[in-house]
Amino acid sequence: MTFQISRRLMLTGAVGASLAGTAAKAAAPKAEEAAFPPEVLAHEHALLGPDDGVALLARNENPYGPSESALKMVDYAGKKGAYYPGQANVVLAEMIADRHGVDPKQIVITTGSGEALSAIAVLYGPKGPIVAPRLFWDTTALYATRLGMAEISRVPLKDDMSVDLEGIEAAVTEETGLVQLCNPNNPTGLVSDSKTFKTAVKNMAKKTTVLVDEAYMELADDPDGNTCMDLVKKGHDVIVSRTFSKIYGMAGLRVGYTISSEETAEKIRGAAMSWIAGTGLASAIGAYNDQKFLDFSKSKIVEARDMILTKTKELGMEALPSQTNFVYFKSGKPANELQQALAAKNVLIRGQYMDYSDWSRVSMGKLEDVERFCALLPEAASV
Ligand SMILES: Cc1ncc(COP(=O)(O)O)c(C=O)c1O
Repeated sequence: MTFQISRRLMLTGAVGASLAGTAAKAAAPKAEEAAFPPEVLAHEHALLGPDDGVALLARNENPYGPSESALKMVDYAGKKGAYYPGQANVVLAEMIADRHGVDPKQIVITTGSGEALSAIAVLYGPKGPIVAPRLFWDTTALYATRLGMAEISRVPLKDDMSVDLEGIEAAVTEETGLVQLCNPNNPTGLVSDSKTFKTAVKNMAKKTTVLVDEAYMELADDPDGNTCMDLVKKGHDVIVSRTFSKIYGMAGLRVGYTISSEETAEKIRGAAMSWIAGTGLASAIGAYNDQKFLDFSKSKIVEARDMILTKTKELGMEALPSQTNFVYFKSGKPANELQQALAAKNVLIRGQYMDYSDWSRVSMGKLEDVERFCALLPEAASV
């Protein structure tokens, strides 16, 4: 079934703004805003997903999903669509709790992890600044700032673009509302050294709540060694968030979750605003333990990433050693210009973040789309 949205409707912004999430609203671009200018959005007409012939490498999705195990459950949930979702939330929480060795009451399931992160930002923002690295996935913290409920205190990255944990620790006081870290970080794709990271998180959690956004953790080389789940289990004031949007390839099905203490979970649950669709819950249940699909997805992502890292190296471009499904690299051309040059060839990547004009971010997609990106890169990046 193909639905196309008219170019006119797209260019009026009626559809483009929602497709772009927080596209092009603020004058000064924040980390996650102003990502998709109208020239790039003009390449999107399909009701869901990219148009035929468009390589969408801009939003860190996994087009190898959803898995068959998820799709079967979408079908089942669609047929039960007349009814509110029943026990699905409880069953999914039990499955997640079981894997991580926590009580189901410690799990909050939301419409994408974005909803939980937004709820956390409005819960903790009024207490004091949200301390975070200068560059991180700031959409939900910005949501709270737009509501007048938070301020973000950004700590510069280190010269190698890694998160300055010492600097962040030094910025935390008893007045801090929340520390928000993203590990692996977006858009850099870097994972912090596990021991240093956990030590810093433990220290900061003595003074304030620490939120660790692990949206991409399953894609890291050593997820078990790097996750902060163990700190939650040991009773530190830490919240970990995860999502079905990345390795599970279910961004459009909108399911994510947090793991925290029961008390914190109760607060997050109280601030969440939506009721998750039955299709999302059912598909998450279907996919959660589908290890075969997860291994397959990770292998495709790693293959695509290696392809891009090899290409950028061959072209003499600096690229950060990503442990995610995106690569942050310097093409030698301003990021927005590279984005537009590639968009003209129907390959969509991210534009500039904040004032990091030299850095571009490309997401992994189907291998053939990543091959197209690699083939076009030398000419698109030429100045
Ligand atoms: C680091 C990070 N966290 C959270 C999200 C939110 O994802 P979702 O709401 O689809 O779970 C994203 C989306 O790209 C992200 O990059």
